Amino acid sequence: MKKEMMRRTEHIWYPYTQMGDNFSPKLVEEAKGVNLKINGQWVIDGISSWWSVLHGYNHHSLNDALKIQIDKFSHVMIGGLIHEPAIELAKSLSSICGGLLNRVFFSDSGSVGIEVAIKLSIQYWMNKKKPNKTKMICFKKSYHGDTTGAMSISDPEDSMHHIFSPILMKHHFFEAPSSDPDIKQGQLKTLDVFLSKRHEEIAAIIIEPLVQCAGGFNFFEADYLDDLRYLSDKYNVLLIYDEVATGFCRTGSFFAYHQSKTEPDILVCGKGLTGGYLGLAATITSDKVFRAFYEKSKPEKAFMHGPTFMGNPLACSLAIKSIELATKNNYSDKFLKIQKILEEELAGFTHSLIKGIRIKGGIGVIEVHNKSDIEGFGDYSFNRGAWLRGFESFIYTMPPAIIEEHDVRKITRIMKDYFLGKK
Ligand SMILES: Cc1ncc(COP(=O)(O)O)c(C=O)c1O
Repeated sequence: MKKEMMRRTEHIWYPYTQMGDNFSPKLVEEAKGVNLKINGQWVIDGISSWWSVLHGYNHHSLNDALKIQIDKFSHVMIGGLIHEPAIELAKSLSSICGGLLNRVFFSDSGSVGIEVAIKLSIQYWMNKKKPNKTKMICFKKSYHGDTTGAMSISDPEDSMHHIFSPILMKHHFFEAPSSDPDIKQGQLKTLDVFLSKRHEEIAAIIIEPLVQCAGGFNFFEADYLDDLRYLSDKYNVLLIYDEVATGFCRTGSFFAYHQSKTEPDILVCGKGLTGGYLGLAATITSDKVFRAFYEKSKPEKAFMHGPTFMGNPLACSLAIKSIELATKNNYSDKFLKIQKILEEELAGFTHSLIKGIRIKGGIGVIEVHNKSDIEGFGDYSFNRGAWLRGFESFIYTMPPAIIEEHDVRKITRIMKDYFLGKK
């Protein structure tokens, strides 16, 4: 079976995978609700197809939204043209952000949304006649995507991108935000001192609010964001929140930053924006940022970026429906209920191989001391009925919002049994 699959997929180049190792992908035959059918067997998808699926697979309302739009038109360029789904979605996103972030630049993936945020923040200062402000303040354990600009602001040492560091633009990295109040104070002091000396070269601070995901699953408190906002204002630098992973209720509020008291100047979201159906990202800016690009007879101040498929109408129609479902059915509450179950099942669990357990909203993470200890975890959980994967020294679950309680408990049972079997 393994050999047959490898032969059938010989023209596919897989991501993040040494295909020369004993590697065999699993062929999905159907997907419905929270389940994937693989080799005739239904398994729970505990990671929502890289954290994007919110309402489950094959959702009738999303399918209908897509069908209605496909019968009108599937795509038109946004340059010079516009369409109703993009107009409506931009309005909806702005309203979710309380009207303060009110200009939406669409693109087709989280990474490109991040590239847009980087370019916007640098050009913002050029347009304001401060061309030296080109550097970003970034954090260790951050991950912002795989494109070149996004790699340059992701953790430079521990990340999967470290081999590219010689060719990446150099930015300034600080320790990953800590939840420990004393450590946090020290970290903010360091940042304050740095900014007091170097703010003239800093365009923006960029951070994943509350949960740094793929760079190391570091969790921190909302007041850290308030402090970053204070420093951004004090030193005249922009503040960017990357909510590509944390957006759409996953941490228990529509956007994670809603748990803080402040707003960023630029917000990036993607992944769950279409409920996990199609690629779409949004880089949303405040009026202050937009105004720096807006001037009569100054073409050089315009933002020169425009992905071919930006604001694709199929993707926008899905996003409108997805946001409607998430709001109507109170997904923040659903993820908080998932958090409660994860806490009941995992919070008190200990094992000598485990270094720590972290839970926030619909995100449950177990970190181990040695990554070799979770090497067989993917196959183990698949054989027990759940699609879960380990990466680096983490195993985790981020299920769709619609998952039932018994399925969450099944996932956590599998996670715990994996360790108990290692005694
Ligand atoms: C926080 C964050 N930013 C950006 C990205 C990149 O998004 P995409 O994979 O859609 O390019 C990711 C992807 O995992 C992410 O987690």
